[in-house]
Amino acid sequence: MEKRKLVELLEDMSMEEKIGQLLQLTGSYFMEDAVLTGPEAEIGVTDQEIACCGSVLSVHGAKELRKIQDRIMKSQPHHIPALFMLDVIHGFRTIFPVPIGQGCTFHPELVKEGASISAKETAVSGVHITFSPMSDLCRDARWGRVMEGTGEDKYLNGVYTKAMVEGYQGKDVKAPYKVGACVKHFAAYGLPEGGREYNTVEVSNRTLFEDYLPAYKEGVKAGAVSVMTSFNTLDRIPSTANRRLMRDVLRDNMGFDGVLISDYGAVMELVNHGIAEDGKEAAKLAINAGVDIEMMSRSYVANLKELIVSGEVEQSVLNEAVMRVLTLKNQLGLFEHPYKDASEEGEQAYILCKEHREAARKCAEESLVLLENDGILPLKKQGQHIAFIGPYVDNKELYGAWALMADGKDAKALSEIVPLLYPNNGYWFEHACNIVPKDSLLSGLASTLETKYTEEEEARAMERAVETAAAADIVVLMMGEHRLQTGEAAAVGDITLPKKQLELLERIAKVNENIVTVLFNGRPLDIREVKEKSSAVLEAWFPGTEGAYAVADTLFGTSNPSGRLSMSFPYCVGQVPVHYDEFATGRPKETEEVENKFCSRYEDIPNAPLYPFGYGLSYADFTYEYRRISKEQLKISKQDDFIEASVTVTNHSDVVGMEVVQLYIQDVKGSVVRPVKELKGFQKICLEPQESKTVTFCVTEEMLRFYDINMEYKSEPGEFRIYIGHDSTQSNGLAFHLTK
Ligand code: NOJ
Repeated sequence: MEKRKLVELLEDMSMEEKIGQLLQLTGSYFMEDAVLTGPEAEIGVTDQEIACCGSVLSVHGAKELRKIQDRIMKSQPHHIPALFMLDVIHGFRTIFPVPIGQGCTFHPELVKEGASISAKETAVSGVHITFSPMSDLCRDARWGRVMEGTGEDKYLNGVYTKAMVEGYQGKDVKAPYKVGACVKHFAAYGLPEGGREYNTVEVSNRTLFEDYLPAYKEGVKAGAVSVMTSFNTLDRIPSTANRRLMRDVLRDNMGFDGVLISDYGAVMELVNHGIAEDGKEAAKLAINAGVDIEMMSRSYVANLKELIVSGEVEQSVLNEAVMRVLTLKNQLGLFEHPYKDASEEGEQAYILCKEHREAARKCAEESLVLLENDGILPLKKQGQHIAFIGPYVDNKELYGAWALMADGKDAKALSEIVPLLYPNNGYWFEHACNIVPKDSLLSGLASTLETKYTEEEEARAMERAVETAAAADIVVLMMGEHRLQTGEAAAVGDITLPKKQLELLERIAKVNENIVTVLFNGRPLDIREVKEKSSAVLEAWFPGTEGAYAVADTLFGTSNPSGRLSMSFPYCVGQVPVHYDEFATGRPKETEEVENKFCSRYEDIPNAPLYPFGYGLSYADFTYEYRRISKEQLKISKQDDFIEASVTVTNHSDVVGMEVVQLYIQDVKGSVVRPVKELKGFQKICLEPQESKTVTFCVTEEMLRFYDINMEYKSEPGEFRIYIGHDSTQSNGLAFHLTK
């Protein structure tokens, strides 16, 4: 539709219709014979409001959505189609690894391809927009949602945000099989105090701009059509009412001109925050802050008309918000094609098709991080007696908490796959114990929690597992968190594995010293005991539909692990938050050996995490030689000046392997304290046995900019150091100077 026609449409709409465009309700309101219960019933929307509703969340399925669209267009006076939005966080039905796992691939093209596949499955099921990517920087392993983010690094998160937005939207979101992206949660939701869900965020303005905002900005730059507000406060103002953050920073500064949507119920929550007296004040604050769509609360539909009549909200503010929603519908082509790609044939053809499964398998393979290996891996393909033990041995739900459309039936368990793929060993499979105790509440989701054993059965199963372990050459222990222990509203104060599983490890370690532990979890855990008792540790995260294949192939060496941690594994919970790009203190600790009490250190634990950012092993053996830079001076005044920094990497092994070559830069002295180093680039390369490759990075002045003492974003002349290596602990720096 032409812009002029959109304007005419807006002018012709009644106030109720306009406000209706700003309401988003779940699909339950639109189902035939819908019976509403719980919070959906409590919201108390009227039939008239439902009839004018502009967007719908959490429904999918071509047939159903076509019907709902018909119903909405029939009841809406101008027959305006609805927007359908859904949380497709890491796959629709073909599930990719959880985002933290995808972060560990260090392979943005793969992540982009995954997003594009998710878009296709989402689009054919009738949905127009996914509530993804989550670009929140995550440094606190206690927070359940670290699994939905790509890690602790601002640069890396930005790279993945861009990749995902491009994958979902393509060049034109109107094109077939593309969906709109929604960058969330603006802003700094990943920093709740104490890691506790929905909690306050306290962050300095400089850190907010320098570390927390850049990833969202990459999403906006990549053209994301929508952004979601976060639940938290910033500077004691809830984001959903934060005018400066939304209008000045997001819109004016970052240039975002798409639709800003509140998070679920967040407008009404302004009352709980204690900054709005009631729904009316909440509506006023949110719309004036620039929130266009109110998700699942009705303060806009109940109050905006009165607020406009009384002059407390300008008519232009309402028009502007409605225009953005109409523009987005137009951008998606909904006025001409209200069903967009919704098609039952499409669902049949594409959902879980071979190509999608293959991509998910590849992504899962590259997301696995080998944390320890004394040579026990890869496992031999014949002549061994291997006992696979633990609650993940026969588990098909390797999905994590946010795979809403996933179905265990779509996947295979490791116990089904291994004997088929590697038939020349002897295998035993023992489930051994429940993932979590039977009576675990897991945030009130006990009804969805299936446990295999009663207490007595579990005791017997453990006993049997230990006997099996004693008779095996090698034990592969498959343990982890329950998927519902991760994700939204799943913050924890203890980041160790469930107790029963640790008991299993301990008992098995007494009878067999050849233990390979495979971990399924959504957050970095304190795995000191696992490290101590295992000959190898493979971090598998929640690897998705094809995850069991990826794990099996990696254990047996058909696939060589190439994932690198995108979030540090803390030594223990007391070290949280721990991240590699910490700041230089006035009393730095020189070594891990305690020499000086009065330096920045703990009395009882090391400063260093158990496994640092960027870390991960391979079956190949890589060495780094000949690090060099093309020159030692970079001129600010000379436009397009750059330094080439290179390194030669050699694979000394007899297996093919992929290495993530990482570039870090340290700004030695600044007008404000600078991080000890920052990731500025990386390249994932593949090396044949005995092959060497030279990897070159281009260092420019732009990469050296930061918010200086006056909050100006610029570089400062002086000394810098370049570190190129295989993780963030590389200490062999090459110096150069930035000069005027
Ligand atoms: C609440 C979550 O915070 C958000 O990430 C999600 O997209 C919405 N619910 C919609 O399901």
